[in-house]
Amino acid sequence: MTPAGSLLAAHDLHKTYGSTPALDGASFSVHPGEVVAVMGPSGSGKSTLLHCLAGIVTPDSGTVTYGGRELSAMSDAGRSALRRTDFGFVFQFGQLVPELTCVENVALPLRLNGVKRKEAEGTALEWMARLEVDDVAAKRPGEVSGGQGQRVAVARALVATPKVVFADEPTGALDSLNGERVMELLTESARTAGTAVVLVTHEARVAAYSDRDVVVRDGRCRDLEYAV
Ligand SMILES: Nc1ncnc2c1ncn2[C@@H]1O[C@H](COP(=O)(O)OP(=O)(O)OP(=O)(O)O)[C@@H](O)[C@H]1O
Ligand SMILES: [Mg+2]
Repeated sequence: MTPAGSLLAAHDLHKTYGSTPALDGASFSVHPGEVVAVMGPSGSGKSTLLHCLAGIVTPDSGTVTYGGRELSAMSDAGRSALRRTDFGFVFQFGQLVPELTCVENVALPLRLNGVKRKEAEGTALEWMARLEVDDVAAKRPGEVSGGQGQRVAVARALVATPKVVFADEPTGALDSLNGERVMELLTESARTAGTAVVLVTHEARVAAYSDRDVVVRDGRCRDLEYAV
């Protein structure tokens, strides 16, 4: 069952690690181009939800549907291909490849999709300019600041114009000023490109950049209603 108009939807997900329930009947959906903030206490199941939505973790029961296709019905290779072409990822610590320069890191998703080096790096540079980090293109991740590294990671997540970007506490390791700027650029760039964003965060101020906020508690999701 998929909510009308949704691009990606999870229905009644359950996932247990040993005897620890991580998801306990979680349902969630995101529309094309929508920015959804996912909040909730530590250990409530936010990352597990994100990993199930992205087809990285298989739930014990429940369904994840993307563009009308059920992820569990696809082969591992099919899910990997989908992640390469349709999804982008940003994690708390950028997880850039240390041996590659920043521009090579950003170009990587395009290279994996078969784009030639020159064209891939040209597109990568455009995204780095948008994220205001084109000046560190030739440096390696170990030679840039935390905020610059996260903006490079955001550029990498957006470079292949994915339909959905998953961000798991992308500003968790940054000071508030840097964090705010990364968040602003991530949501702005995603909006311009019509990319949906599922953004896990501890910080309530992130809600300023989202269209909708969802709270995960004890492995279940509910929409956050603001008291007026
Ligand atoms: N790979 C794993 N192996 C065992 N238990 C896990 C694993 N991943 C998550 N868990 C457990 O599942 C529950 C939900 O974890 P999850 O990482 O989804 O929480 P979270 O909301 O992302 O927390 P945080 O805000 O601290 O990142 C926790 O009790 C956690 O200990
Ligand atoms: Mg987490």
